[in-house]
Amino acid sequence: MDLGKRFSRARALFPHTRKVVYLNSASYGPFSTLVKKAIDDNVSLRLRADRDDSHDAFAAADELRSVYARMIGARKREVGIGLNTSFGLNIAAFGLPLKRGDEILMSDFEFPAVPYTWRAAAEARGLKLKFIRSKQKHVALDDVQKALTKRSRVLCVSWVQFFNGFKNDLAALSELCHSNRVWLVVDGIQGMGVEPINVRKLGVDVFASGCQKWMLSPQGGGFFYLSDAVRDKLAYSSMSWLGVDWKMNFTDMFRFDLPYFDSARRFELGYYAVLNLHGMKASAGLIENLGIRNIRKHNHTLIDRLADYIRGKPLYTITSSMDKAHRSSIFTFTCPGYKKLHRELLKRRIILVEREGSIRVSVHLFNNERDIDRLIAILDRFAKTGSRTAGA
Ligand SMILES: Cc1ncc(COP(=O)(O)O)c(C=O)c1O
Repeated sequence: MDLGKRFSRARALFPHTRKVVYLNSASYGPFSTLVKKAIDDNVSLRLRADRDDSHDAFAAADELRSVYARMIGARKREVGIGLNTSFGLNIAAFGLPLKRGDEILMSDFEFPAVPYTWRAAAEARGLKLKFIRSKQKHVALDDVQKALTKRSRVLCVSWVQFFNGFKNDLAALSELCHSNRVWLVVDGIQGMGVEPINVRKLGVDVFASGCQKWMLSPQGGGFFYLSDAVRDKLAYSSMSWLGVDWKMNFTDMFRFDLPYFDSARRFELGYYAVLNLHGMKASAGLIENLGIRNIRKHNHTLIDRLADYIRGKPLYTITSSMDKAHRSSIFTFTCPGYKKLHRELLKRRIILVEREGSIRVSVHLFNNERDIDRLIAILDRFAKTGSRTAGA
């Protein structure tokens, strides 16, 4: 089947597409009927309660570790299942081998999941947070270089910036980090599912992502990658009975000396959010089947259609990068009266958000040209009439 048809078929799995134009996957992804069915099936099973299904979750988690590992170019043993992005960031912040006075670098426009996690770790461990001032609204290599000192030990950075979609050059940042004995911790959520990545090749030490956005999974499900090199150096900030290998033998429970898993799994915490696991499996399957490279191409083509229109209208200014190396599935633009425009768009069932002075358009696999044209039609009307009476 040709790619266009496969994307049309995928779109048909998302009921919302019949009612609204959803351009907000950078906030939360919508559900497909595949996710609904996977969760419904599990709810039905629990309602019947006619068999012990407790082991199903172990199988689902195991499958997910494999899928996520494939998607990010990791080994399965380097991937663990968590709740969200913060889960993995916390493993790094409280576990990395750091000493009092060590510096943690991050930009001064990170999503709060990054600074708040590290702030608490800094308070508890006597670390120093250092915010990199950048005028360019992304993590510029020069600025990182200037901020590095002998005490710098961690750079924590978003793969893709949430507010303008700028995709950071992880290869260059990784090189810089490793030549200065600095760990690279990546908040991956805004690229996960729409940008290909190979964390091992890039030399990322820790990668954390929730799956509630571009991965189109239920909220409260995510995963983390801990490289083979970093895993055994991490202290445990938390531990659970499922951090050790029971070899699926849960009838002899008074064994308190079992070895920890020799994998990222030992950082998982207790039993699973089972309904989520089933939803996560369904959505990851859809994304893997379509292929992340294909999804990126699909999204960029739609964004190009919108960008072409925007470029032709003096009222509007593109605020995201269109540079091949730095663009993503987030496109942002602004205009005088953008808040009024945002309200207008919502009224017309175009679901998106404004962020940091721009309208943020998140394009995903279920969007098509008609969606973009509906958005353009409203922008066109606003350019002709609405903007005249607009105060931002
Ligand atoms: C860059 C980034 N990191 C993290 C999050 C969310 O963190 P968590 O998955 O821990 O809720 C968001 C958005 O909600 C985000 O845009």
